[in-house]
Amino acid sequence: MSMTTNSHAVGIIGGTGLTTLSGLEITGEQTVNTPWGPPSAALVEGRLGSQPVLFLSRHGNPHRIPPHQVNYRANIHALHEAGVRTVVGVNAVGGIHQGMGPAHVVIPDQIIDYTWGRPSTFFEGDLDTVTHIDFTWPYDRTARDTLIHSARAQGVPFSDFGVYGATQGPRLETVAEIRRLERDGCDLVGMTGMPEAALAAELGMRYVCLGLVVNWAAGKSDHIITMAEIEEAIEQGMSGVKRILEASMASLGELTALPQPY
Ligand code: HPA
Repeated sequence: MSMTTNSHAVGIIGGTGLTTLSGLEITGEQTVNTPWGPPSAALVEGRLGSQPVLFLSRHGNPHRIPPHQVNYRANIHALHEAGVRTVVGVNAVGGIHQGMGPAHVVIPDQIIDYTWGRPSTFFEGDLDTVTHIDFTWPYDRTARDTLIHSARAQGVPFSDFGVYGATQGPRLETVAEIRRLERDGCDLVGMTGMPEAALAAELGMRYVCLGLVVNWAAGKSDHIITMAEIEEAIEQGMSGVKRILEASMASLGELTALPQPY
């Protein structure tokens, strides 16, 4: 893929409901490997509008890798090696905040990590130094502003804030677990937000989450969570997600690379 020095291919990691990105003009495919193993799928090269994009299906294509078994390190490493410096992680989430019901779009600003046992850093093994990245603001401010601007311009209903509670899965939560997350300040719950965001930060990439609420979190509605409900919300909400992506791409591609932190 040809890239000028100040314009990078934008990486899009598609989650549940976004295994392929319609609207992407596909120009090629890269089947790659990394020191951390193979990523979830081939990197699909293409253009969204005129912006070079590398699309990666987080759960594989077809969708088959559960959240706790996604090789997040391989995914982020592969995108970085391919020249990506800005990543949009598209995530299906459950809504906890009362304003964040099914089919609502959220551009969260914070994370609480409840996952466990996932390989979650590039900085381990036989190292010379111990590295602690800053993670005060897990989502890149400029990339968030770009998505927020596009969502407004496209007239897509969305929230420009939210704390993403990342749970281990693959099961959904109990009512008490969601109450606890709510007490902790979580507005959303999902299984794939971490360690993806932290790994991107470790490589000095700009990372932003575009969340689509696909169900009320456990106990937040009068019924249990069904796949039918989730599919309906994806059907309703994914077109808004795609419009935001399309409208944001050129600006995201213009963002300068962050200085490599370490
Ligand atoms: N909980 C956790 N992850 C999710 C949910 C949920 O309710 N919906 C979509 N991903």
